[in-house]
Amino acid sequence: MAKIQALQFENGMLRLIDQRKLPVEAVDFICRDYREVEFAIRDMVVRGAPAIGATAAYGAVLAAMEFQTQEGPQFHQKMHEALDVLNRSRPTAVNLMWAVARMRKILIGNEDNTPVQISELMKSEADRIYRDDVDTCKQMGEHGNGIVPQGAVILTHCNTGSLATAGYGTALGVVKEAHYQGKDIFVYADETRPRLQGARLTAWELVQEKIPAKLIPDSVAATLIRDGKIDLILVGADRIARNGDTANKIGTFMLSVLARTYNVPFYVVAPVSTIDPETPDGSGIDIEERDAEEVTRIDGVQIAPEGMDVFNPAFDVTPHENITGIITEKGILKAPFEGKIVELTRDND
Ligand code: MRU
Repeated sequence: MAKIQALQFENGMLRLIDQRKLPVEAVDFICRDYREVEFAIRDMVVRGAPAIGATAAYGAVLAAMEFQTQEGPQFHQKMHEALDVLNRSRPTAVNLMWAVARMRKILIGNEDNTPVQISELMKSEADRIYRDDVDTCKQMGEHGNGIVPQGAVILTHCNTGSLATAGYGTALGVVKEAHYQGKDIFVYADETRPRLQGARLTAWELVQEKIPAKLIPDSVAATLIRDGKIDLILVGADRIARNGDTANKIGTFMLSVLARTYNVPFYVVAPVSTIDPETPDGSGIDIEERDAEEVTRIDGVQIAPEGMDVFNPAFDVTPHENITGIITEKGILKAPFEGKIVELTRDND
């Protein structure tokens, strides 16, 4: 099976799989400058918290390559402007701000170097963010496999696989690891309205990996959980606050309430870079609201009357008390999380 690579920097360009077109077409979207990277993140050519972070890092590299012929002060000014643009491309996934901050640190910390040297340092830093994410995903997969029972039936939400990361995946990485270890698992994948990341992307990855699975409308999950058909729920995260409250794809909160009501283990799988130690709890997380047309149209076809108002938040916040554990590359945190979460982020800047 060909390795799925959501993003790849080659020949001075960033190649993204255009996730807006999957699974019908597997085509590339090439970014030649940071403005195209900003568009790709905003328009969800690339999506998923860790993938967005790595993409933004390469956006900074493209900006540095573009401005490296300018004098030092102009170079620094243009670079800060470019980093600000990238930082604002989507508001919720903190991996984006984390990656941009790492690139800015290289810029600020090397003021005595020439723009060309800084540009090279930025390329090395972006490569490190990319490589580390692949390693991190593998580690989360290994830790997470420890809580997957033999023969488990697992419910997933949104897409948290190779397409959402630099490779392998977060929650879907755990699913893959359990499958590779011969655990005879079965997956129910929520379709994930309105952008259908479950139907378009998770289903695509599950088919490629030959993992036994069924795709379900989001509204089927409650029945499966109540009827005792789900052993484990695994979701990703876009931002985890200091107390463990977790922003993830809209619909995650609803699953967590069901999990708590019917006593089903509910785990969040996310790298430490998804933890935001600056945000005390979920009320401080900026939740993106997206275009009404994501709800009123499917593939351009109108399904709601003209003039109908829409509320379309892309994420919701799951309160920490609904979460059984948080699986990171450093191990599994069990509730209560306060204190343990800050400790994890200490060496992670
Ligand atoms: O709007 P998206 O598709 O970027 O949202 C993605 C999710 O909510 C994922 O669950 C999250 O980023 C974790 S992915 C590894």
